[in-house]
Amino acid sequence: MKVLIVYGSTTGNTAGIAEALGERMGNAGFDVTVLNAADASAEGLCNGYDAALFGCSAWGTDEVEMQDDFNTLFEDFDAIGVSGKKVACFASGDSSFEHFCGAVDVIENRLAGLGAVVVEEGLKVDGDYSGNRDDVDDWCDRIIAAFQA
Ligand SMILES: Cc1cc2nc3c(=O)[nH]c(=O)nc-3n(C[C@H](O)[C@H](O)[C@H](O)COP(=O)(O)O)c2cc1C
Repeated sequence: MKVLIVYGSTTGNTAGIAEALGERMGNAGFDVTVLNAADASAEGLCNGYDAALFGCSAWGTDEVEMQDDFNTLFEDFDAIGVSGKKVACFASGDSSFEHFCGAVDVIENRLAGLGAVVVEEGLKVDGDYSGNRDDVDDWCDRIIAAFQA
């Protein structure tokens, strides 16, 4: 099964989670590609993949603003070819903000609107992977089970 993990990350926190997810899913036997949104283009992004994970940090104060690189991708999200595919979202954030990991909810809603199958509630990590390994690994294992089902 081929899985795409695409992420937008400014200070590296969401990137670290993406890499950890990629490694764990690879160890579980998936063929995983981890892609920085800065290097991705929307047109046909999910073509050739069976499932996808989307990671994006939030940078707004009063309202949710998506991480810059992911935001560029998001402007053309209609073109990613995700209809009917299994997906889930994740992010690193800071729980002192009103919309903790708010990009996760925005992306999930958009994916559902595009006909993707959101298999699990999004992963919201306070800080980086190093302080939240168990939560990330547990979430990853639920995703693995859902993608294999
Ligand atoms: C101006 C500013 C706005 C932010 N807004 C939010 C927010 O709305 N929600 C949130 O969870 N974190 C917010 N953060 C925190 C970052 O999202 C957090 O540091 C995150 O770990 C960065 O992840 P990244 O390194 O993957 O980009 C904000 C940080 C700054 C400096």
